[in-house]
Amino acid sequence: MASVAIGSSEQYNYDIVRKFTIMALIWGAVGMLIGVFIASELAWPFLNFDFPYITFGRLRPVHTGAVIFGFGGSALFATSYYIVQRTCQTRLLSDGMASFTFWGWQAIIVLAALGDVLGYSQGREYAEMEWPVDLLIAVVWVTYAIIYIGTIMKRKESHIYVANWFYLAFILAVALLHIFNNLAIPVSLTKSYPLFSGAQDAMVQWWYGHNAVGFFLTAAFLGMMYYFVPKQAGRPIYSYRLSIVHFWALIFMYMWAGTHHLHWTAIPDWTSTLAATFSIMLLMPSWGGMINGIMTMSGAWDKLRTDPVLRFLIVSLSFYGMSTFEGPMMSLKDVNALSHYTDWTIGHVHSGALGWVAMISFGAIYHMVPRLWDTKMYSLKLINVHFWLATIGTLLYITAMWISGIMQGLMWRAYDDFGNLQYSFAETVAAMHPYYAMRALGGLVFLSGMILMLYNCFMTMSQAKGVASGDMAPQAA
Ligand code: HEM
Ligand code: HEM
Repeated sequence: MASVAIGSSEQYNYDIVRKFTIMALIWGAVGMLIGVFIASELAWPFLNFDFPYITFGRLRPVHTGAVIFGFGGSALFATSYYIVQRTCQTRLLSDGMASFTFWGWQAIIVLAALGDVLGYSQGREYAEMEWPVDLLIAVVWVTYAIIYIGTIMKRKESHIYVANWFYLAFILAVALLHIFNNLAIPVSLTKSYPLFSGAQDAMVQWWYGHNAVGFFLTAAFLGMMYYFVPKQAGRPIYSYRLSIVHFWALIFMYMWAGTHHLHWTAIPDWTSTLAATFSIMLLMPSWGGMINGIMTMSGAWDKLRTDPVLRFLIVSLSFYGMSTFEGPMMSLKDVNALSHYTDWTIGHVHSGALGWVAMISFGAIYHMVPRLWDTKMYSLKLINVHFWLATIGTLLYITAMWISGIMQGLMWRAYDDFGNLQYSFAETVAAMHPYYAMRALGGLVFLSGMILMLYNCFMTMSQAKGVASGDMAPQAA
């Protein structure tokens, strides 16, 4: 085992992986803390304290930015740089460019949060940032693409492992989505107007929004799954053939489904039907991927009893399966007529976000940290406690949202014998209260697991004598 300082002679650049890993942990804790705060604001509105900068409307995009781009994005940069080097048996194309992606990405998250709090926003979900930040994103992202593709091109291994395919699709698709969705005419440093208008604008935004889910929150995390599940289980992937079918089917189908976010609006009806059709078809590749991951455990199921890291990875796949069953169902126009605008959507989002995205990232980070710092995890027991806190927190969150969402939808459409609405809007809000409190509690439980992880990982780093140099990486090839 190597415990030496970082130097340019190493086989792999682990320094960049370590930096992104640390930031994923920090943004995870910050983003979830804000999540718990805004959940509490919805339950107990006095928490706004009449202070405009911390109101729900401003902090909500700070939450989504910090968890999706800060936590998820940093975890994806870390794992993709780790995986591409190891599976291609070569160092990243350029250390300088990799370092630029790190500092650039962190600056983007901070600038985006500042913009949200100060009220500078394009008003596009998950793309709130104004044009100067959008330009910076484009430059950082193109640099990322050059590093990734360049590293694959100089690989010493003839084969390109399937995880890299998923990361590549994610990098290319996000570049495309980001650039088209942010085409705008600037009128000042902090204000611009989108190039598209009306229904077209909405369709472009939800083509972006949905594929942000499909490529940022799904395809890339599947790349993570294809590397870390076999590694942690010590088994080869169940079916390599299925992984290839899974890849092509998934990336082809996602692109067509965006308008399921706009059912029953002013868009042409056929676009709605097309999106619903592709959404239903998406169930197949999604479940193909889930089955491929879970079946990789064949012959190693007993490891789940003793290995909490593996448990994170496998339970994340179960949540992935659950949210990709729920999503197609919600894309049916009649179901969507009930679910849209309600907390059911929020429940669906977080069964994917907490159960899938966060849990698989936890598993991957727990796998990497001891290898990157060339030591053992400080406490396996704490990982186990974290696992249960994350699972219970997710279940509390999504159950609360399912109940409140369906109740909300049914109350809005209830009529009395005279054809009048049975409930006033205020009555529906009052009925939500216990479930909002329950969601805040679920979030708090989930957040406490995240804090434990932060503690456990920082203790692991501080007990390490040095850092893994990358040329004799411990415990894995
Ligand atoms: C402690 C954990 C978390 C809590 C308490 C929490 C809480 C919340 C709350 C209260 C909202 C606003 C809901 C509304 O508008 O009615 C929200 C929205 C959202 N959160 Fe979280 N969240 C957490 C973790 C996460 C994570 C880890 C992710 C992603 C990886 C995430 C992704 C999102 C997204 C995408 C939305 C927007 C949903 C939509 O517009 O439909 N959250 N969250
Ligand atoms: C086959 C897979 C999936 C399909 C077909 C699907 C479908 C849907 C549908 C129909 C909606 C509601 C749209 C609306 O009424 O406004 C939705 C919302 C959402 N889904 Fe999924 N979903 C899938 C998987 C996932 C996964 C794995 C995640 C991961 C985190 C996710 C994250 C989201 C988010 C963030 C939203 C809220 C978007 C917003 O309004 O801000 N979905 N999805």
